[in-house]
Amino acid sequence: MTRILAIETSCDETAAGVVEDGRRLLSNVVASQIDLHRRFGGVFPEVASRQHVLAIHNVVRQALDEAGVARLDQLDGLAVTHGPGLAGSLLVGVNTAKGMAFTSGLPLLPVNHLEGHVYSNWIVLDETDPAVAHLEEFPVVVLIVSGGHTELLLMTGHCRYQRLGGTLDDAAGEAFDKVARLLGLGYPGGPAIQQAAERGDPSRYPLPRPLMQAGEHRYDFSFSGLKTAVLNLTKKLAQEGIQVQEDPQVAADIAASFQAAVVEVLVAKTVDAAQAFQARRVCICGGVSANAQLRQMAQERCQALGLPLHIPPLFLCTDNAAMIAAAAFHRWQVMGEQALADLSLDVHANLPLT
Ligand code: KG4
Ligand code: ZN
Repeated sequence: MTRILAIETSCDETAAGVVEDGRRLLSNVVASQIDLHRRFGGVFPEVASRQHVLAIHNVVRQALDEAGVARLDQLDGLAVTHGPGLAGSLLVGVNTAKGMAFTSGLPLLPVNHLEGHVYSNWIVLDETDPAVAHLEEFPVVVLIVSGGHTELLLMTGHCRYQRLGGTLDDAAGEAFDKVARLLGLGYPGGPAIQQAAERGDPSRYPLPRPLMQAGEHRYDFSFSGLKTAVLNLTKKLAQEGIQVQEDPQVAADIAASFQAAVVEVLVAKTVDAAQAFQARRVCICGGVSANAQLRQMAQERCQALGLPLHIPPLFLCTDNAAMIAAAAFHRWQVMGEQALADLSLDVHANLPLT
């Protein structure tokens, strides 16, 4: 049995969690800074780092307590996100993990945040779930959709990735956040758009489905044109005397149309890749995978094709440390000693996965 404590501070959530054998959740503590950043309409990097400094000790303490870990020698390793993300935020988690590794002598396991999102799909909350039978089957097509990334990957084994495509401009979550701001729906944009869209008519203002055609960009995405289409629509409506930010029904209709366009493109390309590469399973992860319409459409399309689909429960979609512990476990299994870092470990704001 391998028990790993992970720390995650790549953006605006201070998180720590303990996971056993890369799948059993013993604790998962997340201190969100959303309320703090709301007044800036987005994450303010220096405010984020300072808040991590204030919160990290209590978050780690709580994660150890909830997991019943009284002493660090009851753990086997310390994992930490070392990129990609905001450098100042990453430094807080990395230095905390280094301090703990220094005093305890425990192995230090650096984790790529994106690999963390991937492995949120390997955490098992219910061992009787039929999905457990598919955990060791490959190839798997993985869609990572977060605030900073949109990546379509083919996983040929544990920690083995082939990048099929990704966004050519904005990430999906970034597009949700920017469009929410345009519509005056607040921050964070994803949940705000989802909520507004529930009252909206997605067919009232049709929006484009970018890069839907096959060819060179078959597995790529582009969301900045969609954001510009929403901007142009709001300008056109303003000329007609309709101020979108002051008209909740119009904002809801545009939100519904935008959400439908993003979800359609994400699901279509993921399913296309799964069929083309004869995937045994489809996994969707990252903050945007919390979106109810994305979950529903992916479920319907995959079910119709007999493709097993996994999307983590909501609390594992957005940033958390349990997923970092799960990724660390698998990387350690695959790479052995090479998965470990020494105390000179640095952070990498743009760390790539593949
Ligand atoms: O994975 P995550 O927590 O942080 C990053 O690694 O970026 O993702 C955050 C992103 C934000 O852009 C947020 O607006 C989006 O996930 N998000 C959603 C929903 N919940 C969070 N997007 C669409 N629908 C949601 N329900
Ligand atoms: Zn993330």
